[in-house]
Amino acid sequence: MRILVTAGPTREHLDPVRFLSNRSTGKMGFAIAQCAAARGHEVVLVAGPVVLASPPGVRRVDVVSARDMLAAVEDHLPACEALVMCAAVADWRPRQASAVKLKKRAMAPVLELEANPDILATIRGRKENRIFVGFAAETGDPLPEGRRKLTEKGLDLLVANDVSRQDSGFAVDFNCVTLLPIEGPEQQLPLLPKLKVAERIVAWVEQELAARPQKEMQK
Ligand code: CTP
Repeated sequence: MRILVTAGPTREHLDPVRFLSNRSTGKMGFAIAQCAAARGHEVVLVAGPVVLASPPGVRRVDVVSARDMLAAVEDHLPACEALVMCAAVADWRPRQASAVKLKKRAMAPVLELEANPDILATIRGRKENRIFVGFAAETGDPLPEGRRKLTEKGLDLLVANDVSRQDSGFAVDFNCVTLLPIEGPEQQLPLLPKLKVAERIVAWVEQELAARPQKEMQK
C-alpha cells in the first residue's frame, strides 16, 4: 500500500526566533513510518520540526506550521490508500507573525491567536475509500475523548493515549495506547516500545485494507 504518515509537532512562529509548539518529538510517527517501510509499503512521512533521522526507504517531507502540514497532506493524499495522522498539530497560531525579531520594548505582553485549520476535518470529504487513522493525546483517561474524536473526525481507527504518564507518550520510546476502531472491539495494549505499537497499527491498516473489497461487495 501507499501510506501517508504525519509526525511531530508543528511550530507557529511569532517572529523568526519565537514560536508556539508542543512536546511531541515525532517518535511515534517515525516508528509507524519505519515499520510500514520495513513491511514493504511505500511511505510518505510528513514531519514537523524534529531531530530524528529519516527511517530507511521513506520519502520525507519536512514542514513547519500546521498550514504547511495541511498543504503537504493535500499534495500527497491522492496517491495514498491510508493516512495516519500522528502529528500533534498546533491548534492555534499567533494572529500576526513578524518577519523580523520583535523587540520586547515594542511588544505588548498579550498574544493574539487565531485557529489553525483542522487537517482531518479539511480533508474529510476527500477520504473516499481510504483508511484514516487519528491519534488522541489526552491527560487523564483518553477513552471518552478518543471515542468522540473517532466519530467526529470520521476516522476508521483512533489511537488513544494518556500523555500525562512519565513512562509513555511524549518524548519516550514507549507508549500505552488503546485502539478504538469504528467497527469491532476496542483493544487496550500494554505499555510497549513505540515500534511494537507501530506494528499493531500498521497491521490493523493492512487488515482493514485487505477486507475493503469484500466490504464494498457486501454493501
Ligand atoms: N489534528 C488535525 N488538525 C489539527 C489538530 C489535530 O488533523 N489542527 C488531528 C491530529 O493529528 C490527531 C487528531 O486530529 O490525529 C486529534 O488531535 P488532538 O490534538 O488530540 O485533538 P484536537 O482536535 O486538537 O482537539 P483538542 O485540542 O480539543 O483535544
